[in-house]
Amino acid sequence: MKYNLTVLGIESSCDETAAAVVSGQASGPGTVVSSIIWGQEQLHSGFGGVVPEIAARAHAERLDTCVGQALDKAGMTLSCIDAIAVTAGPGLIGGVLSGIMCAKGLAFGSGKPIVAVNHLAGHALTPRMTDGLKYPYLMLLVSGGHCQFLSVLGPDTFKRLGGTIDDAPGEAFDKTAKLLGLGYPGGPAVEAAAAGGDPVRFHFPRPLLDRPDTDMSFSGLKTALRRARDTLVSEKGGLAASDQADLCASFQAAVADTLAEKAWRACALFVQQTGFSSPAIAVAGGVAANARIRHALQTVADDAGFSYVAPPLKYCTDNAAIIAWAGLEQYAAGYQSDLGLPARPRWPLDSTARPMLGSGKRGAKA
Ligand code: KG4
Ligand code: ZN
Repeated sequence: MKYNLTVLGIESSCDETAAAVVSGQASGPGTVVSSIIWGQEQLHSGFGGVVPEIAARAHAERLDTCVGQALDKAGMTLSCIDAIAVTAGPGLIGGVLSGIMCAKGLAFGSGKPIVAVNHLAGHALTPRMTDGLKYPYLMLLVSGGHCQFLSVLGPDTFKRLGGTIDDAPGEAFDKTAKLLGLGYPGGPAVEAAAAGGDPVRFHFPRPLLDRPDTDMSFSGLKTALRRARDTLVSEKGGLAASDQADLCASFQAAVADTLAEKAWRACALFVQQTGFSSPAIAVAGGVAANARIRHALQTVADDAGFSYVAPPLKYCTDNAAIIAWAGLEQYAAGYQSDLGLPARPRWPLDSTARPMLGSGKRGAKA
């Protein structure tokens, strides 16, 4: 499809209430005409994590204003929009439902088509919006709830090469910040505290490196960190600023090393499976905002002969422009939902991949 489309995107699957207008051709890159984000950090910071009930209520209260602002900023009304894209999962059910109800109301009132977007597809397709990256490419999606390597083959065709069998790295950053009293969200706080710290003072585990695959595990890291913290506290009666910096730097190094080693293996697997001669690796998700991790992945890409695409930070973390973009590509490819579309708290991108260990009775998370 060679013509321009303009799509309104709505995102409310976690703790960001967001709406955006994106236009462009489905081949990319896209233009972000407007992007409004109402972060909920303040509402959750006292709890050390997102409280689903508080999040859902805040989304429901703010979504319509957010959409209004996105349209106003774009200088548009709903009549200028070709389709409405909404995150339909995976995520916190209350938030996803708030977004879907808002989108359904807009679609019903305006007669515009609605496209149910997988939040992870939003992240995975971001480099097409920002850089016009061509299919196929390798993607490391690394956020607060997810961590997986994907072959991205088309707007709705993803093959999972491997992923975490327990915690996501973002979760590990958030728990580390909580253990060290650094506040929420933990990622930026730990990264800031790690600056100037000694990354080799503590040797935290790099799990599953003995396995040849691209699966990862991060849940043991917080236990190791807690032990190191408790030992220091019992020896010295507390943590000095330098101890805190060294703990954060050593933790961050463990995450970066694990992701880098597994990315190296994912590169080999990608080439083996696609036979693609000019491969690219892209990163997205909140943890991709981390400079140490970005740098480690850049080095892997250089060594493996991959080009490296790291979208601007504002499109790595949750926002509605990436949802609008995924909706734009999928709508152009003929996808459309009806007004009965359900919220899907669990929605794996690659439905053919085996569920990851630890996904539990509720089924595969991603
Ligand atoms: O993609 P995202 O905005 O939300 C979802 O999880 O979908 O990712 C949020 C996660 C949080 O766990 C946050 O602590 C982490 O990304 N994060 C970071 C950094 N900035 C955000 N982790 C490490 N370093 C950062 N600079
Ligand atoms: Zn996300």
